[in-house]
Amino acid sequence: MDGEIPACHQTFNSDLQLKPRGWGNNVCSESAAPHPNPRLQLKSRGWASPTTNTRTKKQSGQSGYTTPSHRQAHTPEQAYKTSIVRTTKIPPPMPPTILKIGGSVLTEKTNTPTPKPSAIERCAAEIASYHPSADNPLILIHGAGSFGHPQAKKHDSPDGFTNSGIIEIHRSVTLLNELVVNALIENNVPAAPVHPFGCTVAVDARISEMQTAPIALMLARGIVPVLHGDVVMDRALGASIISGDQIVPYLGTQFGAVRIGFGTAVDGVIADGRVVLEIMPETFEAVRSHIHGSEGTDVTGGMLGKVRELLGIDIDSYIFSAVKPGMIAGFLSGEEPGTRITKTGNRPRRRP
Ligand code: IPE
Repeated sequence: MDGEIPACHQTFNSDLQLKPRGWGNNVCSESAAPHPNPRLQLKSRGWASPTTNTRTKKQSGQSGYTTPSHRQAHTPEQAYKTSIVRTTKIPPPMPPTILKIGGSVLTEKTNTPTPKPSAIERCAAEIASYHPSADNPLILIHGAGSFGHPQAKKHDSPDGFTNSGIIEIHRSVTLLNELVVNALIENNVPAAPVHPFGCTVAVDARISEMQTAPIALMLARGIVPVLHGDVVMDRALGASIISGDQIVPYLGTQFGAVRIGFGTAVDGVIADGRVVLEIMPETFEAVRSHIHGSEGTDVTGGMLGKVRELLGIDIDSYIFSAVKPGMIAGFLSGEEPGTRITKTGNRPRRRP
């Protein structure tokens, strides 16, 4: 029948069905009716060959801008107005401080996502007291708590996460991230979400690549990137859980962090009921059997996992209580709370 759609071209979504009339190759030709939006109309003049008309800063005499390769700029003003690529140089960021706040500080240990709004607000206010800026750059990473661990456990299976499981876990942790970012913004901290799911690839549940250029540019502008433990795509496993504890040393090494803080629900690494003041690679074995994991559902290794991650890098790190008011602000202002994890050791330390 005239106009009938061949069965192989039919879809169940009527919006996506091939139309028998009115859709054809000629829509892209010069003879097609002009597009109702003048900006999208094909021009027979004024559009230039991609190879011959790219103007550089030097050629156009316009500082800091290049014109898009597909379009010719005729005057410096036009070049300015039509440019979509700014080449302004931003210096590399100053070495940042990295702070991770555990999920147990920000959320209730329940099986459904339950935030602790007053704790989120207090942590945000303490971070605000540090006045993060381009000269005082800060990367904030938070855990997932009840917005991630129960969901990851629910979807864990020998075959890996299903797509719907991946999406449920990711969407859940982004809800907590939004609460944290909102609280920071309300405290006048220029904070922005950075979701590992969209910029990280893992191999066997270890970070293999992360797109860090946006983070560098944010730091250089004084923006606080706020990352979090997340599910990420994994070349070996399909998808895997990457804890904030793993992101901390990765970014610490990438950006040459000056110091690292882990705000947790306990006073530090506890062995035989007391806070261990310092752990170095050579003393780790002795305290290891006394270190206990965190309570509740923790799919990412608890306290032992944190210490292991921090021993792998050469940056002084502190594990301390972030449920006690003032401890985050104290750490950010240079105090040395809780347990220090260090490779160099035996240095005098300032107590809070
Ligand atoms: C866990 O991240 C991420 C998910 C389970 C999706 P973290 O390991 O950093 O979270 P907390 O601090 O233990 O809650």
